[in-house]
Amino acid sequence: MVEKLTDEEREYYLLVRKAFTILAPFYDTVAAPFSGVRDRVVNFTDAQKGSRILDIATGTGQQAFAFAKKGYEVIGIDLSEAMLDVAKKKNKFKNAKFEVADATNLLFEDNSFDVSSISFALHDMPLSIREKVLKEMVRVTRPEGIIVIVDYDLPKNRIGKFLIYHFIALFEAEYYKNFIKSDFEALFNKNRIEIIEKDTVLHGAGIILKGINNKL
Ligand SMILES: C[S@@+](CC[C@H](N)C(=O)[O-])C[C@H]1O[C@@H](n2cnc3c(N)ncnc32)[C@H](O)[C@@H]1O
Repeated sequence: MVEKLTDEEREYYLLVRKAFTILAPFYDTVAAPFSGVRDRVVNFTDAQKGSRILDIATGTGQQAFAFAKKGYEVIGIDLSEAMLDVAKKKNKFKNAKFEVADATNLLFEDNSFDVSSISFALHDMPLSIREKVLKEMVRVTRPEGIIVIVDYDLPKNRIGKFLIYHFIALFEAEYYKNFIKSDFEALFNKNRIEIIEKDTVLHGAGIILKGINNKL
């Protein structure tokens, strides 16, 4: 059965498709500040040798490449063909593959991956989509597998918090404001993801969360 989209969800799909078609050729330049985070995510994930990893909303594939460099089998999926075209052109790894897919409705079977990751994408989504994406990550990752989320955070001190919030709100979509104020950990708990480690990145403007898939 095809699920009916809300007006907000329809608007989000239009926005994502349009924005990333325009942004794709420049994305790696714009996202250069994140480049130092990629290897850190791989080390932090600390997946077992031979793990199968799904990188959700992979964009131009930078996080997927960082996993592939360490020998993992990686599949990167994204809604935007334009972003994936960049990833495919830059891909020099036999163990990294890219496919167009909607993260809210993946075609993979249950428990297909040891690890699933998503970086700098959840903040770009309305809450209902964020929830659907997390549900799909839980479904396609095996029980006790690892779920890694990398995204914006706010520094602890008041001035840093104020400055970073207003700076990022300047260029991110409206969903960012809801995302950054939301109770992220409650959303994880609701989806049976148990957070076992956190790492602050980008001087407090970003966070890596490592969770265990506790589905039954
Ligand atoms: C800000 S980019 C992040 C790309 C990459 N993960 C990174 O760390 O650089 C967000 C990506 O999420 C993708 N995206 C948004 N909604 C999606 C969905 N429902 N399914 C798959 N990809 C989606 C966009 O097409 C875009 O490539």
